[in-house]
Amino acid sequence: MRRFLAPVLALSLLGTAAHAEDKLSPLHFQSQGPLGTIDKAAAQRGYQVYATVCAGCHAASGVHYRDLEALGLTPDQAAGEAAAAGGTLDSPLKGAAPQTSGAIPPNLTSIVAERHGTDYIYSFLTGFGTAPDGVTLLPGHSYNAAFPGFETAMPNILHDGAVTYADGTKATTAQEASDVAEFLTWTADPNLDARHQIGFRAVIFFGFLAIIAIASKRKVWRETI
Ligand code: HEC
Repeated sequence: MRRFLAPVLALSLLGTAAHAEDKLSPLHFQSQGPLGTIDKAAAQRGYQVYATVCAGCHAASGVHYRDLEALGLTPDQAAGEAAAAGGTLDSPLKGAAPQTSGAIPPNLTSIVAERHGTDYIYSFLTGFGTAPDGVTLLPGHSYNAAFPGFETAMPNILHDGAVTYADGTKATTAQEASDVAEFLTWTADPNLDARHQIGFRAVIFFGFLAIIAIASKRKVWRETI
């Protein structure tokens, strides 16, 4: 057994070290990893960021207002959100989706699955900055350290206090970015929690099966020899 444990331990330590060196994603998201679960409080705050800041440009049309109940919003709150946005519980979240420098803001429902995961969304939203000397941007574009090619048609949209969180959390840019990244992780995979729970049970089940198999193999061989 020890023979197997040592490399596994070494690999997981290496993994932690590599993660620690990844400067663009200094955060740990609860939803990451094979047993990760959605941080519902963060995702609720993230929904607030999405609705206040992102929905003006981006649709997330795979999400229905009634789905928000799974995030912990009460039916009344979810209905309230629907009414506030002029929709019904069944209507998808809609953004106005105006064109920005000719680029169309993508639908954000599955963006975490399409664009390198939760970390990338956080890095992209906090990656805006001043272009290095000698770099000329296209008109209306912004410099972004995380975006492929380093310039994007999306403006730097988050700032400290861009939302006032219902739960009283201090709305720093980093907090807003990580919360909306957790919300978009949920919209991309609303069944993540259930799937990981099933996976966890399966691992325990097959673990037991393996122990029984090894034990009976030993017994059978002992009796044969
Ligand atoms: C003023 C309009 C506008 C707002 C507001 C806006 N975006 Fe965008 N967003 C865009 C545009 C335009 C693009 C396409 C950028 C490109 O292709 O260069 C984009 C692209 C993206 C992408 C894809 C990046 C990639 O790698 O392709 C993500 C993720 C994203 N936005 C998230 C958000 C989030 C989250 C918010 C709210 C915090 C937000 N956006 C607010 C206009 C906007």
